[in-house]
Amino acid sequence: MCGIFAAVNQNPVTQHLLTGLSCLSYRGYDSSGIAVIENGLIRRQRAAGKLENLRQLVEGNPIQGLIGIAHTRWATHGLPTEKNAHPHMTEEVAVAHNGIVENHHSLKLRLEAQGCEFQSETDSESIAQLITFHLRRGMSCQDALRVALQEIEGSYGLVVLFRQQPDQLYVARRGSPLVIGRSNDGYFVSSDENALSGLATQVYHLQDGELGRLSTSLFRLRDIQGNQKACRFVDFHQMHVDSGKDGFDHFMLKEIHEQPAVFERCLRQYLSEDQERLEYPIPGSILEKVSRLTIVACGTSFYAGQVAKYWIERVAGLPVDVDIASEFRYRQAPLDQQSLAVFVSQSGETADTYAALQHARKRGLTCLAIVNVVNSTIAREADYVLPIHAGTEVGVASTKAFIAQLTTFLGLTLALGRASAYLGAEAERALVAEMLNFPEQMSQLISQKSMYSAISRELRHCSNALFLGRGISSALAQEGALKLKEISYIHAEAYPAGELKHGPLALVDEHLPVIMIAPRDELLGKSLSNLREVAARGGRIILFSDKEGIEECRDFIVQGHALPPVHELLQPLQYTIPLQLLAYYTALIRGNDVDQPRNLAKSVTVE
Ligand code: AGP
Repeated sequence: MCGIFAAVNQNPVTQHLLTGLSCLSYRGYDSSGIAVIENGLIRRQRAAGKLENLRQLVEGNPIQGLIGIAHTRWATHGLPTEKNAHPHMTEEVAVAHNGIVENHHSLKLRLEAQGCEFQSETDSESIAQLITFHLRRGMSCQDALRVALQEIEGSYGLVVLFRQQPDQLYVARRGSPLVIGRSNDGYFVSSDENALSGLATQVYHLQDGELGRLSTSLFRLRDIQGNQKACRFVDFHQMHVDSGKDGFDHFMLKEIHEQPAVFERCLRQYLSEDQERLEYPIPGSILEKVSRLTIVACGTSFYAGQVAKYWIERVAGLPVDVDIASEFRYRQAPLDQQSLAVFVSQSGETADTYAALQHARKRGLTCLAIVNVVNSTIAREADYVLPIHAGTEVGVASTKAFIAQLTTFLGLTLALGRASAYLGAEAERALVAEMLNFPEQMSQLISQKSMYSAISRELRHCSNALFLGRGISSALAQEGALKLKEISYIHAEAYPAGELKHGPLALVDEHLPVIMIAPRDELLGKSLSNLREVAARGGRIILFSDKEGIEECRDFIVQGHALPPVHELLQPLQYTIPLQLLAYYTALIRGNDVDQPRNLAKSVTVE
């Protein structure tokens, strides 16, 4: 996703801008650029492709100044070319923009009719042209920006330079995060707090509708009507900043290996003194009133919610709806005020999930955020927050955050079961004891990773794959299919195994790999029957089950991996690991960029 970095400082900023963009690069991008004010002029360098291209360009044609803006672009409107890279500028104004200008077409027509000449195919350029238009009508810099923002429809996180004010950096926000960092020698601005690590001592998160003006020593805040606003900087507690790959080939593999420690950290954050139950910072009076849960998220976080649905309904006896965030508020679902609305987001900045949270808040629901980034927008706007303590996740394909989300959901399930008296103390104690032993079992499973390199050869030249599971494993199959899709680029679908004969069985032939998740549970027999349906049509079966399950199917599977027995409620966490490793090694064998797969971003801050 697009990234913004800006600086106004007593010292030259070009290197800060390039370093800031490097910190943002994990979010995914396809072009980048910087602009500074030097000798009274706005000077810009942009490059398509990787940041190294921009760095080389700047080295060859240096630009330097005490104020500057920078951007990594993830293309929404227009190809990923230098021409469409930010900053977008006129002689008077340069802007770097996150978000979408929904009325950019009408703005462009209006401005072109006034003689403005557009250079790019982007929506963002209309912001620079519109501000310039108001400047040329005699408005001050601040008023030109303010009026332009009132005319824009859509979302923005915005940093702006004015040639006329070479010592002032302007910032504005509507729906796309911007954080201001204060340091001893000036200010830094970023769309991602991580990029301020090592620079800022205090931070302020710009709120929607706010507009700020920064110099090296001053920060003035206003609302969009121009009224002055007070703001309070808080001490900056940077998240654990990723220390690199620590010898692993990819961040994704490193983060898969971190999962046992993440599980343990997430568990122990909420473990009671006597180590017999998990306690969460949500008042018992709230949990006891919950009659229904509505879980809302995107992507992998959505599948964590799907898994949680099975746990909560079984262990706490509460009905659970799980919604894709981008559909939730348009579905016009009748929302029960006794519902607990749960918003799951690793980044805490996903625009679709944030918009869904705002929708639920307007309807008076109690909102809980399950996030990894605790200073994120979604965390700040929820009534209650459960951090998942996964640490910075760099790989675009979510792994350890998914395990941490599941761990948090499992603990929440126990808390809900206790509150609804649906779960007995002894049963809770037994599960918590199993959870305390689980990190070791995860480590053992991950240590067998080389076998997935062999299994992935089955998928290397495939164009399609089918993931199957029953019950809670059908939810996990969805996550397995997404992992494979997003980094190997193989089209993968997931179905409840019982659904196969109602259509998807037509897909099965000797070319189709079928990955079945079949832990030892009440549905195992039925799952293995479904497998025989697949085998009868020549499907190439990869089976994840226990030892007996693998033995029973040995004659008609092409690959199988037996997983040791664990508490049934822990099976989804256990069976996640083979799915992650299968996707990882398949992407590797296909020569893909595992950590930054094509077209994807780590945090999708546009709808
Ligand atoms: C998962 O591997 C993907 N990176 C993607 O589906 C992600 O889970 C989704 O975009 C939601 O992100 P969030 O958890 O930060 O809200």
